[in-house]
Amino acid sequence: MSSNNESVQKTVTVALVLCLVCSVVVSAAAVLLRPVQAVNEKANMQMNILQAAGLYDPSKSVQEQFEQVTTRLVNVETGEFVTDMDPDTYDQRKAAKTPEMHRVLSGDEDIASIKRQANVAKVYLIESGDSIDKIILPIHGYGLWSTLYGFMALEGDANTVAGLGFYEHAETPGLGGEVDNPNWKAQWTGKKVYRDDDVAIRLVKGGADRSDAYGVDALSGATLTSRGVDNLLKFWLSDSGFKPFLDNVKQGRI
Ligand SMILES: Cc1cc2nc3c(=O)[nH]c(=O)nc-3n(C[C@H](O)[C@H](O)[C@H](O)COP(=O)(O)O)c2cc1C
Repeated sequence: MSSNNESVQKTVTVALVLCLVCSVVVSAAAVLLRPVQAVNEKANMQMNILQAAGLYDPSKSVQEQFEQVTTRLVNVETGEFVTDMDPDTYDQRKAAKTPEMHRVLSGDEDIASIKRQANVAKVYLIESGDSIDKIILPIHGYGLWSTLYGFMALEGDANTVAGLGFYEHAETPGLGGEVDNPNWKAQWTGKKVYRDDDVAIRLVKGGADRSDAYGVDALSGATLTSRGVDNLLKFWLSDSGFKPFLDNVKQGRI
């Protein structure tokens, strides 16, 4: 026997009310959680920066540890600091998509396959007194399936690698995804970047000689991701990337 509660009209009304309530709850949660999300994203990025430099200590708060880091903006072309923009609000990825804030890279120059490069880049510095202890540079470039985003940390000599890490990519776990393998990442520490002013750091297919100051093992079974990492490093450490800035650091001009 059918009751009044089973009429089509009532079923539709209950479904509509339920949809309305759910959409209000989901929208409210999205709006209310946005500030928390932004704080977490910022802390996560700060942790990635500290990790790349080998400075992250999980037993301490990220915020507290990040106090030792100074964020600066650099004019990529001149390698000089930009002082009329706020590093805290500057979004380099957004700038790379904004016409007046980026330059389009020619095919020959674009070895990292990024197409557009922001004119101003963020750099992170660990300073002690007047000297720079560590320089952490944001880097990105295309692998096999995705753009890899990460940081390369250099010692204050602007030539010795303090660490390297990628925080975003979609390479295959176990193949290109081995860029996240701690053993592979550990190889970078202590390697040198420049030989006679040329970028000499590179990935070596089949394995680098342990005594090679510039060579790191390519990822086995992931030649294309390895090539992508090699290319993006060559790009960001060259005159098109951070070399003008690193030269200024080496020569004590900034
Ligand atoms: C499902 C699948 C996923 C793959 N993912 C990657 C990858 O993330 N990175 C990469 O370089 N090669 C990847 N490859 C392998 C490449 O297609 C290519 O064979 C490999 O880069 C060659 O490397 P090797 O010369 O070191 O063997 C993948 C292959 C398959 C079938």
